[in-house]
Amino acid sequence: MRTHYCGRIGQAEVGRRVSLCGWADARRDHGGVVFIDLRDHEGIVQVVADPDNAGVFKVASKVGYEDCLRVTGTVRVRSNVNEKIPTGRYEVVAESIELLNAARDLPFALHEHPNEEMRLKYRYLDLRRPEMQKMMRTRIRLVQALRRWLDARGFQDIETPILTRATPEGARDYLVPSRVHPGQFYALPQSPQLFKQLLMIAGFDRYYQIARCFRDEDLRADRQPEFTQLDMEFAFVGERDVQDTVEAMIRDVFRAVVGVELPDPFPRMSWLEAITRYGSDKPDLRIDLELIDIADAVKRLDFRVFADPANDPAGRVAALRVPGGADLSRKQLDDYAAHAAKFGAKGLAWLKVTDAAKGLEGVHSPVAKFLDEATLGTILQKTRARNGDALLFGAGAWKTVGDFMGALRLKVARDRGLVVPGWKPLWVTDFPMFEYDGQAARHVALHHPFTAPKIDDIAALKADPSRAVSRGYDMVLNGSEIGGGSIRIHRPEMQSAVFDLLGIDEAEARAKFGFLLDALKFGAPPHGGIAFGIDRIAAIMAGTESIRDVIAFPKTTSAQCLMTDAPSAIDPKQLAELHVQVRDSGLGTRDS
Ligand code: AMO
Ligand code: AMP
Repeated sequence: MRTHYCGRIGQAEVGRRVSLCGWADARRDHGGVVFIDLRDHEGIVQVVADPDNAGVFKVASKVGYEDCLRVTGTVRVRSNVNEKIPTGRYEVVAESIELLNAARDLPFALHEHPNEEMRLKYRYLDLRRPEMQKMMRTRIRLVQALRRWLDARGFQDIETPILTRATPEGARDYLVPSRVHPGQFYALPQSPQLFKQLLMIAGFDRYYQIARCFRDEDLRADRQPEFTQLDMEFAFVGERDVQDTVEAMIRDVFRAVVGVELPDPFPRMSWLEAITRYGSDKPDLRIDLELIDIADAVKRLDFRVFADPANDPAGRVAALRVPGGADLSRKQLDDYAAHAAKFGAKGLAWLKVTDAAKGLEGVHSPVAKFLDEATLGTILQKTRARNGDALLFGAGAWKTVGDFMGALRLKVARDRGLVVPGWKPLWVTDFPMFEYDGQAARHVALHHPFTAPKIDDIAALKADPSRAVSRGYDMVLNGSEIGGGSIRIHRPEMQSAVFDLLGIDEAEARAKFGFLLDALKFGAPPHGGIAFGIDRIAAIMAGTESIRDVIAFPKTTSAQCLMTDAPSAIDPKQLAELHVQVRDSGLGTRDS
């Protein structure tokens, strides 16, 4: 149908006859001449229809926005150059214009910024937009670069099942009913975790997979119910082997795909340091603000909001300096308090510094009345607050204060333009093995239950599980967790002990993970690995906040596909075949 791509027309084509196919990006009628911007996968070129050629001119005059066309004509040098497009020095004088298919009643103009709902409903149109094409192609180049890198280094690409048993990664499972086994279900994998470990036991040594994962969890801009991991596993390694290898890989692909030079080596930080300094296990190091602990300074105050947690080993009192924050309005401070409340804050004390030299006279704060000159002096000194700054204070349980002060740190930085552009990767290591889930009244694994503890001693682990540190590690880039992994447990006794600590009794462990416990008995090698979030890396590379922009057909934050209208009600006959009965949800049946 065609001889060239629109976007590739150049000097070499001048004087030549070409056939192009694409969409009418725009049509301009200029004093008897019609110009059509014809767009295809490679770009845009201007097509000219002269009135001298009556047949062509007639068709051209009727071309509509986004009509699908085939144009044959001769390339010539343009008189008025358009510097904005690569083909801007050339145009195609049409000899024939064939309307391959008209575009009727478009739901939105591609040049306007359509709203998200329309974009998702008519995703194929949204994807026609050059901006989307560019972002999707960044993702494609990322995956190509990763594959090239891994293939060249002997990593084996092996597929693992989608219809499988549950693999716990901390989210709910998507389940698939079995027709031939009434009342039984497959789970879609939350990750290929157990299969990749089994591949190491099977002797494949180094594995990777671009793997689709499914997690039924609360969605956000950086989370989709199905997403893609670069999943990797290595036999006979310690954490530095894995980290050094994948760090080099990430550096190489950033250079290859977006021409970005990441630091070498990446800085490293323990989980405890990350939470203490930044209130986050994925700190955005582009922001030069830190949480400052001031418990020591406020222990003796007659202000229980501060003094109680300051005297409680499980409590925390922290301050965040807002540079220039003395200009914050009452409304802005209330907004910050409301934001902090979303992360568990019971209140948010603040203090504005007008003239530090004047002590209490020179500050403005609802809690000033509880402070004395010495305490204020210590706080100002610790936080390095200067005239014109504000301080925000968080007090309460250690974890909660980290959570809301960390969230405030991000919000303050974004609101006030304190995110310095650049690339700040880091490793976060030394995570706790377990986290206590107050609601469930039991320990849960911070990574997953197959992560090895640092102490290779079951008795010591059991003696004080809350202090146990894992051999897990996360790679963080600009405040986004782009990868997570660990050295795994490779002995059955340790795996059983960890299940036990997680409240999984022997019978349940046998029923759910018997195959793993068996496999660990047969000479399982020490092994470890990592998985990267491809969608997240692609989004960062493409410079977008939302991973939806780098997923061709994403779902909404309520896990729907607006284009296909999935999920949808199922025909009762089909349900009966699957031995599934739908309980009346009280909401009636959708889609029927
Ligand atoms: P983890 O659960 O940390 O580890 O997942 C690895 C990486 O996958 C990305 N990711 C997501 N991306 C988009 N939407 C989601 N819902 C989502 N959830 C996770 C993140 C994350 O860092 N089996 C382990 C890996 C291992 O131990 O080797 C695992 O899945 O970027
Ligand atoms: P109250 O005495 O409860 O009115 O609180 C006095 C000040 O302390 C108010 O500015 C509150 O916003 C603030 N405050 C209350 N609880 C906390 C908390 N947990 N952390 C930080 N500030 C708080």
